[in-house]
Amino acid sequence: MTPVNKLTEAEINPLQSLDEWEDDVLERYPDPESIATSKKTDEYRNYETPVRDTVREFYRLNHTYQTYEFVQEKRANYLKFDKKEMPVWDAFQFLNQLVDDSDPDTDLDQFQHLLQTSEAIRADGHPDWMVMVGLMHDMGKVLCLFGEPQWAVVGDTFPVGCGYSNKVVFPEFFANNPDYSDSRYNTKLGVYKEGCGLRNVDMSWGHDEYVYQMMKDYLPEPALYMLRYHSFYAWHREGEYSYLLDDHDREMLKWVKLFNPYDLYSKNPTPPDWNKLRPYYQELANKYLPERLKF
Ligand SMILES: [Fe+2]
Ligand SMILES: [Fe+2]
Repeated sequence: MTPVNKLTEAEINPLQSLDEWEDDVLERYPDPESIATSKKTDEYRNYETPVRDTVREFYRLNHTYQTYEFVQEKRANYLKFDKKEMPVWDAFQFLNQLVDDSDPDTDLDQFQHLLQTSEAIRADGHPDWMVMVGLMHDMGKVLCLFGEPQWAVVGDTFPVGCGYSNKVVFPEFFANNPDYSDSRYNTKLGVYKEGCGLRNVDMSWGHDEYVYQMMKDYLPEPALYMLRYHSFYAWHREGEYSYLLDDHDREMLKWVKLFNPYDLYSKNPTPPDWNKLRPYYQELANKYLPERLKF
C-alpha cells in the first residue's frame, strides 16, 4: 500500500469527474418511476453490465485508504473551519469551480444539481428547511478544491472503526484496508457499543459529514440527518448496521429516505432559471443561514 502522501495524480483523482460516482449510484439504484414508464429499461444496469473501470478504481482507493485514523486526521483538520470564509452566494460560485471538463454538453454544474434538487423538493410542497437541504447538500464537495482526493470527498459512506457490512459497494476492497486486520477495529462493533447511535459513530470522510458540521447550528434535526447520511446507502437503502443505531436514528431514517430520491432522480437537462428563482432563495438563505459561511 502506497503511503497516502505519495499517491500519484491518477490515485488522487481516479474519476474523470465526480459525476461518475453519482452516475454509478444511479445505476445501482435506478428511479422506479422511469423503470415503470420508460421503454428503455434495458439501459439500466443489470448484474451483467460492468461498472466502469474508473469507478472500480475509485472504490478500491476509497476502501483502502479510509481508515479510522485517516478519518480522525481529516476531522481534526477540516472541522476547525479555518480554511476560508465567504458570503453564502460566493460559496456557490466557489463550489462551481469544480467543473467537469470531460463532458461539458451533458453534465450540469454543481449549482444546477443543487437547484434542481431543491426545486423538486419545493414542487412537492415539503417544508422550506428541506428545500434548504436540497440547496446545500453537496456544498461539502469543495473539499476537492482544498486538494482532497476524490475518494475522500464522494463515494458511498460507511462507518469506520468497526467491521464492514458486505452490502457496502465493492466490499472485497476492504481487505486492503489496514483496519481490516487490526483487532481494535475489525470486530462487529469495533470501537463502538451496541446501540450507541450514529452520532457516536465516525463515518468515512467526505462531503456529507463536512456539510453537516457546517450547517449543524442552522437547520432542524431531520435536515441534519439528510445532510449527514445522504451517501450512507448501506443504511438508508440496504438496512445495514442496525446494531449501531439508537431509537433516534430509527426515527430519523424516514427523513433520510425521503430526501434520497430528490438527490438521485431530479437531474434534468434543462437548467432552472436562476434569475426567476433568485428572490425566493435569497429570502430562504436569509431565514436559515448566516451571512458568511466558514470552510
Ligand atoms: Fe452528495
Ligand atoms: Fe447530490
